[in-house]
Amino acid sequence: MRDILKENILKLKKEKNAIILAHLYEPDEIQEIADYVGDSYYLSKIARDCKEELIIFCGVKFMGESAKILSPQKTVILPAANAGCPMADMADAEDLKEMIKDYPDAFKVCYINSSYEVKALCDVSVTSSSALDIIKNVPNKQILFLPDRNLGSYIAEFFPDKEFILWQGFCPTHERISTEDIINAKAKHPNVKVLGHPECNKDVRDLCDYIGSTSGIINFATNCEDNEFIIATEEGILYELNKRNPNKKFYFPGPIICPNMKKTSLENVYDALCGKVEEVILDEDISKKALVSLENMHKLGEMVVCGN
Ligand code: 13P
Ligand code: SF4
Repeated sequence: MRDILKENILKLKKEKNAIILAHLYEPDEIQEIADYVGDSYYLSKIARDCKEELIIFCGVKFMGESAKILSPQKTVILPAANAGCPMADMADAEDLKEMIKDYPDAFKVCYINSSYEVKALCDVSVTSSSALDIIKNVPNKQILFLPDRNLGSYIAEFFPDKEFILWQGFCPTHERISTEDIINAKAKHPNVKVLGHPECNKDVRDLCDYIGSTSGIINFATNCEDNEFIIATEEGILYELNKRNPNKKFYFPGPIICPNMKKTSLENVYDALCGKVEEVILDEDISKKALVSLENMHKLGEMVVCGN
């Protein structure tokens, strides 16, 4: 039954000349049928550069919005139209306008996990894989960073000469990982390296041997000689970790699941290809302003290689 549905999706995708993109946290069967699977930065580049005019973006709202902003002429559909990102929802454009008044000299940097209204007010967007390279190229001393206080504090550690003003947003999925979870996992699997995402809080990050984006974690585990790893990020990453490393073992410190990333199903991907799911439609003026921040992300992060 699932196989027939997968076959029908692939057939319809060909007929419609569509491309299917999937984030590394998406369910296994979605990653399996996708043309490209990767981290936020990589997928945004594929969405911008692909020749297909119909993009089925298996991810959450800010990803679909960013794809549409980068390619306004293309049709972008998020199969799980109600898949949001609670962290992105923690930063409101009206509140940001007020904050900007207090920091007129600050360079405004937003994590790509933000609404397009917020991006429209910012100088540059960053992803976890591109943030350090981008901030390196920012001349301003003062940086207003939003919405993720965890990624923000992680970046700030690399730039002691800059002053970071951090919005107090966070990812509920990563914030739930506790130091106790990591300590327990380490006790169960002694001498096993811990690889974590910068969306984890500082105490958890301090227990990690490597911090990086989803693609960074996959590359580290693939290139490292060790055969076992503790992974402190969303469990969907296991699909690609196993695919690339069939002989290695990966342990998670408790269930780490983003409910929004799990809203995509084969059924709604099929519906999206049938034109039964509404395409991403954005306000043109706001999109044009948000495009500047996304274009700056690609310009300043050009040297970064990520994805698969
Ligand atoms: P990356 O894949 O860019 O590391 O981002 C993780 C994430 O939380 C996406 O929502
Ligand atoms: Fe948002 Fe966290 Fe889910 Fe990523 S994992 S989409 S940051 S809630």
